Amino acid sequence: MKRIGIVGAGRMAFARGKALLDTGEAEIIAVASRNIEHARRLARKLGAQEAFDDYRRIGSLKPDALLIEVPHGAQTEIVKWGIDVAPGILVGAALAVNLREAEEIEKRAEEKGCLIEAGYDARYSAVWEKAKDILESGVLGEPVLVQSLALFPASPSSWYYKEKESGGMPLTHMTYCFINPVRWVLGSVVDVSASANQLLMRGKEFVEQEMCAAILRFQNDSLYSAVAGYIRPPGFPNLEVRFICTEGGLEILPSRRILKIYRDTGVEEIDFSSHPSSLLRQAEKFIDALDGKAACLNPPSDAKIDVAISEAIVKAAKNRIVVRLQR
Ligand SMILES: NC(=O)c1ccc[n+]([C@@H]2O[C@H](COP(=O)([O-])OP(=O)(O)OC[C@H]3O[C@@H](n4cnc5c(N)ncnc54)[C@H](OP(=O)(O)O)[C@@H]3O)[C@@H](O)[C@H]2O)c1
Repeated sequence: MKRIGIVGAGRMAFARGKALLDTGEAEIIAVASRNIEHARRLARKLGAQEAFDDYRRIGSLKPDALLIEVPHGAQTEIVKWGIDVAPGILVGAALAVNLREAEEIEKRAEEKGCLIEAGYDARYSAVWEKAKDILESGVLGEPVLVQSLALFPASPSSWYYKEKESGGMPLTHMTYCFINPVRWVLGSVVDVSASANQLLMRGKEFVEQEMCAAILRFQNDSLYSAVAGYIRPPGFPNLEVRFICTEGGLEILPSRRILKIYRDTGVEEIDFSSHPSSLLRQAEKFIDALDGKAACLNPPSDAKIDVAISEAIVKAAKNRIVVRLQR
């Protein structure tokens, strides 16, 4: 049984904490959050004995692993502390707010032998796995273009909408939706161009790339047009991904966990909604990886690429240039 400490007491701390419990191989020993009442409430829900308003107090309990679910601006300091106190860390989504910090974390974790897994859970979802298998099998020919839409009606009062606390919309939202899983399927990104605007929440504290359209070019010359932002009209589609291939196409509807396959024989729809959730599968893999029985899919060496791409998107949008990524 793995003894897990949680830092953060928000939405994802609960969802992932529950997923860890649902593996049947973990117990939550403590929850820490700035607001002790929030920590206590989540500790009660997840059956943890301890609640703290200072995350450092988890260290004395010698946890087997940490789950860190806080705004990105606060995350690096906590992850660096975590590397010294636990053999494993599962962290919200983005590895860090910039590439320099991501590489520091990668190096420090390697030195200390700490397993770090970034929380990009799409790679553990049955619908993305199937899409990857189909595309790699070649039955649809070559992928030539990917198009995605990801609209999230973030609350202007939340940390998501604050440039400094979130690290920016491309980092917080676009890497998750869907740069991380798309490059899992298509491989290395060679260059990035982008345009962005900030028309609804215009204050300096708000995310500078409120709405953004980015174009990523992959090594095989396929293109990915990613549109994302924090303005979503009521009832409007929020998450869609389409792969256009030379001999067919794929459509992923992530919220409904549906995959549509387009071929000359017709359209086939596969519903993955009854499959185990990606959060549960990621939690299982993380626990196995702590014992060296499996490898996680988002180690720092790979997750830092999402940070690099988000930096490239911001640079391209600000300077109206194409940014080449180092390989
Ligand atoms: N995989 C997914 O599906 C998915 C989806 C959305 C988000 N995420 C990621 O999950 C992570 C957490 O997001 P969330 O939506 O759970 O956020 P959230 O609900 O806003 O919760 C954030 C938590 O962090 C704590 N916190 C805030 N500022 C802090 C600071 N400066 N120092 C220490 N703790 C602080 C808050 O504590 P208090 O309440 O005590 O102030 C709160 O408990 C992020 O990395 C996000 O990108 C993943």
